[in-house]
Amino acid sequence: MSNSLKEKFFNKSAKVAVVGLGYVGLPLAVSTAKAGYETHGIDVSHDRIKKIQSGESYILDIDSMELKSLLGRRLFVDNDFSSLTVADAIIICIPTPLDKNKVPDLSYIKDSVEQIANYMKEQALIILESTSYPGSTQELITSVIENKRKLKVGRDFYVCFSPERVDPGNKNFNIQNTPKVIGGETANCLAMGVALYKHISKDVVPVSATKVAEMVKLLENTYRSINIAFVNELTQLCERMGINIWEVINAAATKPYGFMPFYPGPGVGGHCIPLDPMYLSWKAKLYGHYNRFIELASDINENMPRYVVGEIADILNNEGRPINRSVILLLGVAYKKDIDDFRESPALTIHSILEEKGAKVQYYDPYIERFNLNGKMVKSVTLTSEVISNADIVVILADHNTENYETVVKHAKIVYDTRNATEGIVTDNVILLGNCRYAKEIMNYETKL
Ligand SMILES: NC(=O)c1ccc[n+]([C@@H]2O[C@H](COP(=O)([O-])OP(=O)(O)OC[C@H]3O[C@@H](n4cnc5c(N)ncnc54)[C@H](O)[C@@H]3O)[C@@H](O)[C@H]2O)c1
Repeated sequence: MSNSLKEKFFNKSAKVAVVGLGYVGLPLAVSTAKAGYETHGIDVSHDRIKKIQSGESYILDIDSMELKSLLGRRLFVDNDFSSLTVADAIIICIPTPLDKNKVPDLSYIKDSVEQIANYMKEQALIILESTSYPGSTQELITSVIENKRKLKVGRDFYVCFSPERVDPGNKNFNIQNTPKVIGGETANCLAMGVALYKHISKDVVPVSATKVAEMVKLLENTYRSINIAFVNELTQLCERMGINIWEVINAAATKPYGFMPFYPGPGVGGHCIPLDPMYLSWKAKLYGHYNRFIELASDINENMPRYVVGEIADILNNEGRPINRSVILLLGVAYKKDIDDFRESPALTIHSILEEKGAKVQYYDPYIERFNLNGKMVKSVTLTSEVISNADIVVILADHNTENYETVVKHAKIVYDTRNATEGIVTDNVILLGNCRYAKEIMNYETKL
């Protein structure tokens, strides 16, 4: 085993490269630099590198001042992969999306591994943090580098998988205080990975293999996807039964053991929950195994935006209005509260369908100034009392803490709240996803029993 590499991690003389400086990579590069390692961030996006070089953070959780204080001192960023030649550790944080047929698109990993194989030095440690199916690290990194460079893993270079678990926008948990799971291709590889990560995260959780660590991440995110789907399904039942799902969940959450609350919403978004379980179910099929739970959860969650559109149509219909030509104001288009990430956000699907049906859709999001919707740039409105009162319906899709929901409710004709952001506001112009809406309909169901 290379004691000198371990020694370099211990005395902080090791150089770390982070490949891919997005929501995962930039905070990680800042953390390794703050931990005392000379860190080289590499990204193919010229725009992102230019922004970082000018000290501008595009990730909400990273403060521009902090970034500036590290730049040129311990943090260096570039589009050029040649800095990999000096790296003792290379951490990969690049996208793992699905293609349009919901099949894993591994092209980003393959491209970056190609570059790593070209430039890495012997004895380097490579860690994959991007989420992927069990077996990815071995198939896409270890065997590629062994073949291309004629090196032996565990002896000439080291490979680990360590899932990124950080929750964007979470003020309590970060890279330092979230336990770091890690698996190595060999015992030597694991020892190297642990030797580095124990200086970055407070608790390191070693597991026996890279495929175990890969499966840990998929278990965590599939667990979320399935539980959110279950609660979204129960939401639809509660609406028919005249029961407030939020009240049910909050009461159930008082049980001190055996229950963890999940909340309904307009659907799931982001780069993790809608995608990661599909990586697992895709790989499972190659083993002749069909993950019905995963597919069912994905089906329910993916249908939530359409369910929400159906509810908007019903609410407007009750007011004697069709969707066509109604002014609909969407509040929050990020996929969850207090973040600026709108990748896979259900708000985009809702916006799109409403527009197709002829609605005049506007949106407001303090974190997302504009975005491209089906090839057309749409821009956030300024949230004034006039904009609110002009809308036929205001739909809360992301419950950012920046908003004063009392003011929204006060000026709106009707509010459809898919996040329970209006909890505690006593008014009769709010309709809540997961609450009873039509007493008459409920009576009809009940008299049939
Ligand atoms: N966003 C999250 O909350 C989160 C949490 C846990 C895990 N993950 C996983 O982490 C991985 C990265 O996600 P992200 O949200 O940071 O993605 P991102 O899109 O925000 O960032 C990825 C970055 O990689 C760059 N890139 C693409 N190809 C590259 C290449 N060949 N070489 C160098 N740079 C390249 C892109 O320009 C981009 O800046 C994904 O696998 C994701 O599933 C994300």
